[in-house]
Amino acid sequence: MNQIENKGRSPFYPDQPVPAELFVGRAQQIDRIQKQAVGQVAAGKPVNVFIEGEYGIGKTSIARFTQWLAERDQKLLGIYATLERADSMDDVGTAVLEGTLRTGVYDPGLGDKIRNVLAKYVGRQTLFGVTLHAEALKTEGPRVAAGLLPFLGETLMIVKDQGVRGVFLVLDEINGIAGNPKFAPFLKGLSDLNAAVAPGQPVLPLLLMLVGVEERRRELATHHPSVAGIFDVVRIERLSEQEMTEFYKNAFGSVHVEVDAAALDTLTYYAAGFPRIMHVLGNAAFWLDRDGRVDRQDAVAAVMAAAEQVGSRYVDKQVYQALRSRDYQSILRKIGQLAPGTMTFNKKDVEKGLTDTEKRRFNNFLQKMKRLKVLRSGDVKGEYEFTMRMVRLYIWLRSQRETKS
Ligand SMILES: Nc1ncnc2c1ncn2[C@@H]1O[C@H](COP(=O)(O)OP(=O)(O)O)[C@@H](O)[C@H]1O
Ligand SMILES: [Mg+2]
Repeated sequence: MNQIENKGRSPFYPDQPVPAELFVGRAQQIDRIQKQAVGQVAAGKPVNVFIEGEYGIGKTSIARFTQWLAERDQKLLGIYATLERADSMDDVGTAVLEGTLRTGVYDPGLGDKIRNVLAKYVGRQTLFGVTLHAEALKTEGPRVAAGLLPFLGETLMIVKDQGVRGVFLVLDEINGIAGNPKFAPFLKGLSDLNAAVAPGQPVLPLLLMLVGVEERRRELATHHPSVAGIFDVVRIERLSEQEMTEFYKNAFGSVHVEVDAAALDTLTYYAAGFPRIMHVLGNAAFWLDRDGRVDRQDAVAAVMAAAEQVGSRYVDKQVYQALRSRDYQSILRKIGQLAPGTMTFNKKDVEKGLTDTEKRRFNNFLQKMKRLKVLRSGDVKGEYEFTMRMVRLYIWLRSQRETKS
């Protein structure tokens, strides 16, 4: 079989938003966005949405997926800008400009038309399309930021004759820029300005979607109290067992790999609803499998390999570095050695095995682990629960290794 020599490409994307054909679940949230946001904007009314949820839960994926749907079904022009590297409002302008030049996710024809017009300012036509000038993007950024509404309005005009009805602007990764005190007033101003156009003047049908963790939405409100009220908040939670199963079947199916029921149980158990972990696990199973059929053994091997990967990338940085002190580390090791299958433990049970100095630091340790979102309080008093199975597994693996050496 040539699958063994040449596996082709993995259908898993641990570090990227999921492609539309492999997107699963979120039916309720999508429905809400379609009806209360996309539909309204297509009918001419501006709407602001905030997509919130923890790291890796699938915020960017749903933002891009709903943009794709909105472009296909309601003719809203999707512009996606990540503010990951933005520090100032000028940088926000640059990011929006860049996003505008990459528009046309569903309909590349729309994007080409816009690129051709905007290329006059920020790029040049070459044999291979439009090449952008990084310098020009930077110098135009402040102008875009200072007049974001007119800029988006002009962009819309370029494709109005194609039946485009509005703009769907996503501002992703707002975690950094939310700390800039100018950002919240910037958003509020944008929203107010578009609502307060003179009578008879058309408003810009704009769907503004912000994406970030809950803490950042709250932070925005501290910089401008009434900014909180302008957003319709959509929360993204973990995927269900059925959604994960559906995902694995589709993903493996798309590359003609079979997956046993027992393997599915193992994969979904450890992914535990976290989409990023789901992809990391699937990817490991894909590369470990030798015969075009993922069985339980492949799945277990994938869990072990992925625990290392998840652990060293997401846990070590946050947890082991934050827990520099020897006492903290030995407390963690002792917790790690508890039965690896259980996700909860009782404070009293752990305390029994601790030294006096460890006991004194135990409370601080627990608080710190809660702040790092590794633990949360359980249902009964004195009970603590690991938030992720893979993290729990990694801590156990590490404690095994440390005890041996
Ligand atoms: N609905 C979904 N279906 C399938 N995979 C998803 C879904 N949502 C997210 N993912 C995957 O999960 C991981 C994290 O998603 P991402 O959208 O980047 O999360 P966030 O923006 O919240 O950090 C990525 O690997 C992505 O491909
Ligand atoms: Mg994201």
